[in-house]
Amino acid sequence: MRARDGIARILLLAILLACATPAAAIDPATLASRGSAGIPPCSGCHGASGAGQLMFPRLAGLNAAYMAKQLADFNNGTRINAAMQPIASALSPADRQAMADYYAAMPVPVAAAAPAPAADSPGGLLARRGRWSKGVPACGQCHGPGGVGVGDAFPALAAQPAAYTAAQLHAWQAGTRRNDPIELMRHVAAQLSDSDIQSVADWFAAQPASLAATTTP
Ligand code: HEC
Ligand code: HEC
Repeated sequence: MRARDGIARILLLAILLACATPAAAIDPATLASRGSAGIPPCSGCHGASGAGQLMFPRLAGLNAAYMAKQLADFNNGTRINAAMQPIASALSPADRQAMADYYAAMPVPVAAAAPAPAADSPGGLLARRGRWSKGVPACGQCHGPGGVGVGDAFPALAAQPAAYTAAQLHAWQAGTRRNDPIELMRHVAAQLSDSDIQSVADWFAAQPASLAATTTP
């Protein structure tokens, strides 16, 4: 009887401790590589180095506040995606922040291998000059030169898989992504044709993830 009481007390203590511990319930590296009950490993889709592939975005080296916002947006339904919504909803706000910090600190992958479309292709022109006849500023004006990203609000487009970037632009056109501040991206995407989208997605996929990489001889 005594031993049982002891075990019961230890169990109770463990439960109380677990409840009292503030939200940092997950170990980001473990969740990323192995997953946990009900949550598949992030690396299964985003890659072991966080470089992304196909429809799965690069996470390595992205801005932490931006990623945390995206995870919150999957959770609140302003960004709709069947793969990410259940995962984002299974994470507490503190867990989402921890995962965002973890991936932000990962080294950015080296320049993508694909050759960039020509500088005067529709994508190259949209990226660098915009299309003022349609009121579209150069993507680089918000997303930074070469699409390396600017601060918390303007994400990197460089070294993102082309299929992923194209899917986001189509999602804004279709209204399944509605999380952009003052509908900046909705207005941009509405002006693009399917071939514009393909070309600009290919353009950014081929840009190096950091400006430092561009200037290295
Ligand atoms: C089953 C595949 C899958 C798994 C597992 C997965 N993701 Fe994703 N993730 C996706 C897809 C697909 C997208 C793009 C969704 C879209 O098109 O809107 C995405 C998008 C994201 C984004 C938005 C990035 C951006 O640039 O906007 C973040 C952040 C993210 N995932 C984090 C995670 C984390 C953290 C985990 C692990 C806890 C994880 N993902 C596990 C498929 C997955
Ligand atoms: C006026 C500023 C502005 C311009 C110009 C602009 N964007 Fe954006 N873009 C944004 C903002 C803000 C976001 C972040 C939306 C959010 O918070 O989810 C964004 C997000 C994106 C994303 C989603 C990235 C991710 O991983 O979540 C893609 C793709 C994108 N923009 C492509 C483009 C392309 C291509 C162009 C040029 C044709 C362009 N943008 C021009 C402001 C801009």
